[in-house]
Amino acid sequence: MQEIVIRRPDDWHLHLRDGAMLQGVLPETTRHFARAIVMPNLVPPVVTARDALAYRERILAALPEGAAFEPLMTLYLTEGTDPADVAAAAASGLVKAVKLYPAGATTNSQSGVRDLTKVMAVLERMAAIGLPLCTHGEVVDPAVDIFDREAVFIDSVLAPLRRRLPELRVVMEHITTEEGVAYAAEGGETLGATITTHHLILNRNHILAGGIRPHYYCLPVAKRERHRLALRRAATSGSPRYFLGTDSAPHVDALKEHACGCAGCFTATNTLPLLAHVFEAEGALDRLEGFASRHGPAFYRLPENAARLRLVKRAEPAVFAEKILTGAGPVTVFDPGFPVYWHVQD
Ligand code: NCD
Ligand code: ZN
Repeated sequence: MQEIVIRRPDDWHLHLRDGAMLQGVLPETTRHFARAIVMPNLVPPVVTARDALAYRERILAALPEGAAFEPLMTLYLTEGTDPADVAAAAASGLVKAVKLYPAGATTNSQSGVRDLTKVMAVLERMAAIGLPLCTHGEVVDPAVDIFDREAVFIDSVLAPLRRRLPELRVVMEHITTEEGVAYAAEGGETLGATITTHHLILNRNHILAGGIRPHYYCLPVAKRERHRLALRRAATSGSPRYFLGTDSAPHVDALKEHACGCAGCFTATNTLPLLAHVFEAEGALDRLEGFASRHGPAFYRLPENAARLRLVKRAEPAVFAEKILTGAGPVTVFDPGFPVYWHVQD
């Protein structure tokens, strides 16, 4: 038996939704994670400090008995966002980041940003106070191939923005390409990049070869194998630029297994065993703690968790629930497609 003990991890990019779905999926995260950056793409979105405060209360009310979990709230950037409201929300400690969704890029992004010049006053204020901007880094131009949307975003949106506002602290959310890995590597202390569990495991063949797998479809979509390998090298490199953001994004099965299926992989349940598997395969188990538990708090200027989490490797594979049954309907748990021998020791 092999085992590893790490500081309790945090999830720096998580979708918890609301209502019955929130109630159903929240325990899957609080079982292993101490904190999570909670995405604001509800319908309607979490735009103001007041929205964030109310959403935080709903999350706290849905916590399982005895759970020690802190939701870290974010605001959804719109072209009507008030810089003073953002600054007050940050100063009070309520809000830890603002999320940029290019309008139309992903689930519930219709209220996002069409024209960056309209949000420059907010971004300037954020740069001044050190509040991070989390970016969904894909352009939405239909002329750009979906597999190129991240690389084009870096060149045409992110790099110019960071040249114009070098003090702005930015997290490239869920990077999926070699280009994303390379840009984050050279960004210095104002830049971080989250990497999901599923993008360390999937390439685009997994989604499309031998039948279409709706539960492997997420945004940004998984890319070619060389990109997956670049992500694995980055996550296991020990570099503080890269940290875990699962982007666990629950949708009920009826909307995943659909003629126009929703984007999102639900990985909250089994992320830690899967990461241990990946890090072991890369000969980097000793770097899992950095990726999952230390680089994120360092970027967000928060303390590391004091509690610990123990992972053990056993002879029998872990058995994960195939689905989580929520009041909103069943949600399929991410299936890596291979046996995983790592277990979280509760
Ligand atoms: C996310 C969702 O469902 O909210 N979907 C996804 O595929 N990742 C939105 C997002 O983070 O892009
Ligand atoms: Zn997301």
